[in-house]
Amino acid sequence: MPQRPVTINGKRHVIEADDAMPLLWVLRDLLGMTGTKYGCGAGVCGSCTVLENGRAIRSCQTNFSDTGDKSYTTIEGLSAAGDHPIQKAWLAEDVAQCGYCQPGMILELRSLLRSKASPSSAEIDAALSDHVCRCGSYPRIRKAALLAAKSGGGR
Ligand code: FES
Ligand code: FES
Repeated sequence: MPQRPVTINGKRHVIEADDAMPLLWVLRDLLGMTGTKYGCGAGVCGSCTVLENGRAIRSCQTNFSDTGDKSYTTIEGLSAAGDHPIQKAWLAEDVAQCGYCQPGMILELRSLLRSKASPSSAEIDAALSDHVCRCGSYPRIRKAALLAAKSGGGR
């Protein structure tokens, strides 16, 4: 099997895996980073979202063969102490119910705020529109996202 260096949360790993293995399974099964969630496996629910060079991507749709020379951030790497402005806003608005969709939502929002520091409510809704929350926490997510934008969530 091929070996490939991949940088994840600032740390370089040399990983051996089948080229067709989705990044989602590299993270969860080979590296034990279970914060990235499996939902549909088909690119439609958003629960597996991670950042690739700062931009949100679906890790279930990214093969190991596509990961070379790229840098990834998972929910575990967003901040060392779990106190990124987006995470603080999430706590302040008590967003999570079961929490399953939240890593993907948070990283999608991080990607949005990096490109647009003060998005409108409609722009937040558009960015998160293809993320599924089975608990229906969308109103709290929107409130927290607006709060995060005000508190420097794009950093
Ligand atoms: S598990 Fe990747 S989009 Fe649903
Ligand atoms: S909080 Fe349960 S799926 Fe979103």
